Amino acid sequence: MTTTDAAPAPETDDAQQVHAAGGRGEWWRSAVIYQVYPRSFADGDGDGMGDLPGITARLPHLVELGVDALWLSPFYTSPQLDAGYDVADYRDVDPRFGVLADADALLARAHELGLRVVVDLVPNHTSWEHAWFRAALAAAPGSPERARYLFRDGRGEHGELPPTSWRAVFGGPAWERVTEPDGTPGQWYLHLFDVSQPDLDWTNPEVVEEFRDVLRFWLDRGVDGFRVDVAHGLVKADGLPEWDAETEMITGTLAGQHGESRTPPPMWDQEGVHEVYRAWRAVLEEYDGDRMLVAEAWVDPVERLARYVRPDEMHQAFNFGYLVSPLEAAALKAQVEETSRAMAAVGAPPTWVLSNHDVVRHTTRFGLSAAGGNPDGLAADDDQPDPAVGLQRARAATLLMLALPGSAYVYQGEELGLPDAVVPDDARQDPTWERSRHQVNGRDGCRVPVPWEAGSPSYGFGPTDASWLPQPAVYGELALDRQRDVPGSTFEMYRAALRLRRDLALGSSPDLGWTELDGAAPVAGGVLAFRTSGALVVANLGEAPVRLPDGAEVLLVSGELEHEGESRLLPPMTTAWLRGPADPS
Ligand code: GLC
Repeated sequence: MTTTDAAPAPETDDAQQVHAAGGRGEWWRSAVIYQVYPRSFADGDGDGMGDLPGITARLPHLVELGVDALWLSPFYTSPQLDAGYDVADYRDVDPRFGVLADADALLARAHELGLRVVVDLVPNHTSWEHAWFRAALAAAPGSPERARYLFRDGRGEHGELPPTSWRAVFGGPAWERVTEPDGTPGQWYLHLFDVSQPDLDWTNPEVVEEFRDVLRFWLDRGVDGFRVDVAHGLVKADGLPEWDAETEMITGTLAGQHGESRTPPPMWDQEGVHEVYRAWRAVLEEYDGDRMLVAEAWVDPVERLARYVRPDEMHQAFNFGYLVSPLEAAALKAQVEETSRAMAAVGAPPTWVLSNHDVVRHTTRFGLSAAGGNPDGLAADDDQPDPAVGLQRARAATLLMLALPGSAYVYQGEELGLPDAVVPDDARQDPTWERSRHQVNGRDGCRVPVPWEAGSPSYGFGPTDASWLPQPAVYGELALDRQRDVPGSTFEMYRAALRLRRDLALGSSPDLGWTELDGAAPVAGGVLAFRTSGALVVANLGEAPVRLPDGAEVLLVSGELEHEGESRLLPPMTTAWLRGPADPS
């Protein structure tokens, strides 16, 4: 694929531009935020596990790419039973990733380069190695130590049955029985995820105070914001009512339930979570007014999601409805309209995302015969995606996403067009694999270390061949050094897109107007066309080529244009950014 019809993007000084954008305040309204998964981005010490010094050394890549900020998945002290989403100490760095001074150095270097830094906060549960949980196990039922978690007596004559039938998201029961300090079988504790991740009791003021303090700890060190893990789960319905269905992360229509009046399951989207976020917003306001909170809340419909970003709560919420949407014009148009409307109603920016560390990478998702949704990670004997189709669709989807007003999230490696890796069963690390008794493959495929240089050990991930998940050979072909300065490479497409997005202020366009091409309605024939204040965007998600308006300048295209006489045709599964005679800019 090439961008032969693309005009060369104007040259800018990347670092300066980012810095300038950062200085305007409310930077998050239009920011492109790059997710770094510390285990897999760059390994400084060669042990096969990424680390903070490795990330710091690779920060210039993010400047070259042209993003505004990075979000770091957890790097805190942790037994790593859920890849760091099981935190044992919220105020320290896990030795695998470095020491606290390495976090400070990363922050300082990022800021020097004009990049904002958002860190992950995991408030729904701690690790079972957290000092609080150890103290809870050592203390008696009914003690203040136990009251920080959700300990309950079991049902049955001897308390041998779990307090409810709740299931864990990773499979198996959501309750685990403990052995009391005197050696007798005892109470049960709730864990919505892995057994090593006990849920905190957010009705306990001590828990509330502790997390306000953790926020301040990182704000004082200079972080620009927090990505809030499982933001819809902190508060459970009063009395922990019975619920015997599967526990999915997702509520509402995303999980196949319909209608706004549906009752959320007792573990998700309870009213009490909003009080927590109002208190956190107040903490952020104690600072310089430029820090942000983004919610990982798998709630639906989008009006429920908008409640997390009301003016006195968080600033942004991930748009998982967009992520799981099929790559179809009508579905995406509805997503864009509904999200924009719901977010505008509360004064928050819409966000857009296609990939992260929990889902199959979009290059692979869109190459599967049943594209869309949130499929399980691939196994070797599953139907395999068509890599060329997947990449073409992924590029079209990316240019559509990056043209939308609002903030966008990019997951490490998607700028290289990386597909999900098929991880051999005996190398799988996601706890869901074991907890589901090998029924769910899990999320390892999107977490495989990033390839930087094709000819180096571990493709440049680190100085040795070690890699905590095996890298497939195709990662060598897609390594950064194979794509840099190669016209039409996925890396150069992302770079050009991010530069144009900034130059044309696409992320802060005040409106988005659907438009007709050749007199056809916006979604006719699967074509989505819209104007923002910066560009005319045409995404051909249909099956036939579409004629581009004569005289319009092609700024960027995700594939290769075709020609018919004087006319330029946009092939199926291709997106173009244009500036036309009729374009207001
Ligand atoms: C979030 C994280 C995921 C983790 C889970 C439990 O969904 O993104 O990786 O496993 O929370 O903390």
